[in-house]
Amino acid sequence: MGMGLPVLSERRFGDGERPPRAPAHAHASRRMLDSHGRTIRDLRLSLTDRCNFRCTYCMDPDVRFLPKLRLLKVDQIVRLARVCVGLGVEKVRLTGGEPTLHPELTRVIRELAALRADDLALTTNGSRMSDADLAAWKDAGLGRVTISLDSLRPERFAAITRSGSSAAEVVEGARRVMRAGFSPPKLNAVVIRGTNEDEVPDLAGLARDLGIEFRFIEFMPLDSARAWDRSMVVPGDEIIERINDVYPLVPLGRVAHSGTAEEWGFADGAPGRIGVIAPVTRPFCGACSRLRITADGKVRPCLFSTREWDLKPLLDAGAPDREIEEFLIDATWTKQAGHGISSEGFEQPARTMSAIGG
Ligand code: 5AD
Ligand code: SF4
Repeated sequence: MGMGLPVLSERRFGDGERPPRAPAHAHASRRMLDSHGRTIRDLRLSLTDRCNFRCTYCMDPDVRFLPKLRLLKVDQIVRLARVCVGLGVEKVRLTGGEPTLHPELTRVIRELAALRADDLALTTNGSRMSDADLAAWKDAGLGRVTISLDSLRPERFAAITRSGSSAAEVVEGARRVMRAGFSPPKLNAVVIRGTNEDEVPDLAGLARDLGIEFRFIEFMPLDSARAWDRSMVVPGDEIIERINDVYPLVPLGRVAHSGTAEEWGFADGAPGRIGVIAPVTRPFCGACSRLRITADGKVRPCLFSTREWDLKPLLDAGAPDREIEEFLIDATWTKQAGHGISSEGFEQPARTMSAIGG
């Protein structure tokens, strides 16, 4: 097509755009409320858009990353998180790109842990966690680790991730997370028809071997290739059937409120759990409590927001906390009711997952 997508998409994100003013009661609440009755409690902070993988469902092989100058500085990230915690955020998750590529990750963790949100978590591809790193993150106050793993087969892992890493390395990383004293990490796989759906039972078997939760995610239209098609979505129900045929399951329900995953245990009492995240066939937007901030300081109230609000100018100008709060309250008010993947005229956001942060 020769449309030069990265440049196009950068232009489409109106730099410096400010959200319209939210109603007075939203401001008076000093909470991040949206116009659909939801409250933000879960902040996803992307630390970088860079990644050492090029997963086919996420990132172009020839992706162009943002210039470093455009990224928030550590002080700005911490300040933003502090303001969000003051507005009622209870969980902070660090994402990317690949957050372990941030040169000062341990410092970020230490300063965010000092904010005393209930929960500080990290989502990673699991390829860059030495024992020394894990010990440093644990010591700095990281609570939980989530690791992406889409295949256990060497060629398939290589074909999906287009990386020099291996599934064996990632599985070993999950074991080392436990040895470093963290609670068992959750593993995530994006299931794509014709790519890895036949491996779902094997991945479930890994959950049993490791005694961890394995979560299967329906493929969402956030891929850089824009190849997403409904026929590539493996419905959550089918994922469960495929596992149940090999390892009978018992439903545990949707465990945490506003949690994205529905969970199952193994009927034979084996350790480990299965989670299914089914945004396409069973949207959970009505209970969404998430807000995302990209590495370049754009507030995205929804994964599928087609508009985003640029906080960086305020942060660069050293605006007082009050102004940052007002901006966040205004931006949250614009949060859309849901992703609308199934509605006519659905528009895939210009940003891919790698530039949003899971
Ligand atoms: N659909 C569903 N999940 C995705 N992820 C990345 N891109 C997509 C997509 N298009 C997942 C990754 C990781 C988390 C950050 O988001 O696998 O687990
Ligand atoms: Fe929340 Fe948007 Fe995801 Fe729906 S699609 S759960 S509204 S972030």
